[in-house]
Amino acid sequence: MRIPITRPCFDDEDRAAIAKPLDTGWVVQGPNVAEFERLFGQYTGADHAVACTSCTTGLHLGLAALGIGPGDEVIVPSFTWVASANVVLYCGATPVLCDIDLDTFNVDLEDLAARITPRTKALIPVHLFGLPVDMGPVLQLAERHGLGIVEDAACGLGARWQGTHVGHIGDFGAFSFHPRKAITTGEGGMVLTNDPERNALLRSLRDHGSSKSDLARHEGTAAFLLSEFNVMGFNYRMTDFQGALGCTQMAKVEWFQARRAELARRYDALLADIEWLQTPRVPDGDTHGYQSYVCVFRPEAPTMANVDALFERRNAMMMRMEAQGVSTRQGTHAVHGLGLYAERFGLRPEDYPRAWIAERVSLALPLFPTMTDAEQDHVVALLKASYA
Ligand SMILES: Cc1ncc(COP(=O)(O)O)c(C=O)c1O
Repeated sequence: MRIPITRPCFDDEDRAAIAKPLDTGWVVQGPNVAEFERLFGQYTGADHAVACTSCTTGLHLGLAALGIGPGDEVIVPSFTWVASANVVLYCGATPVLCDIDLDTFNVDLEDLAARITPRTKALIPVHLFGLPVDMGPVLQLAERHGLGIVEDAACGLGARWQGTHVGHIGDFGAFSFHPRKAITTGEGGMVLTNDPERNALLRSLRDHGSSKSDLARHEGTAAFLLSEFNVMGFNYRMTDFQGALGCTQMAKVEWFQARRAELARRYDALLADIEWLQTPRVPDGDTHGYQSYVCVFRPEAPTMANVDALFERRNAMMMRMEAQGVSTRQGTHAVHGLGLYAERFGLRPEDYPRAWIAERVSLALPLFPTMTDAEQDHVVALLKASYA
């Protein structure tokens, strides 16, 4: 039985949707993108949802809208996808990494607070794998030090912090529609905000800094006149093919998320007797979106002293599973260990020990809405058999 780490779910509605823009002729940021934004805002409870080309460009838009630039520092957890830190470099600012909590894989709030300096201008809390960051202390720190917050909600669809959907708790929040995410448009992203002026700024920044979208110009009078361009923007417009697919994916989001949660509960039960594996922990009152189901491989408590040995054992186990057709993955990477960051900022593994350990002992198991119970039982049986 071959089981991939994820399998995007498409049906005939999705197939029909991507053909629609060919008929209307609106193939870029047209009516389907507008409808996708409406549906996404409705689902997350945000006042404004602004589509763009990826979560990476969405995070960049958020930082640009906050005016982040050279001389500024932005704090980012080290255990995250490299893009969370790269967007700070895009602005000419300095990413300051901080460590994480191995129980949640999310930012260590004490370490975050300790890294704030007079140059800090913003924070990027990452709701990793779909588990909400504890936003209360993050909001307090931002308030006390006058900092902006751009939530990295790449994995955050369906994630609720104390009942509020992530992505519009800080100033901005960006989501990803890459195929490994809960819904997909191939590539694609969405930025949320509750502020009408920031909404207008995001819309302008994603469209070269234009004061009006092409759709609005064409629907109004004097369409022959171009818009005003008063800020430096980017071309981060989503295509209408992606917008149309986003709409039909949103039509399935409730069952996608319900099935993900059901499979996660099944994993919790099936893995409960494995003492060498720590399964995801969800704080009371929070909802995990389960973009991924990521465990900690811990035949013994991981430390910097034993992590290399644990890394070898985890990899050998993953290799045996792969040989039997079942895909697993490390959760994500430790940014401070990547060549670009290690060399540019002179960082060593021990500078962020828990992020380093997380990279080496995390283990993501297959999880996707169309996964059957039988497939999941097979993953668990093979995992147990592959541990040696
Ligand atoms: C935490 C996190 N941030 C940002 C991104 C970037 O998302 P995208 O590929 O849509 O740019 C990802 C993608 O995997 C991610 O996992």
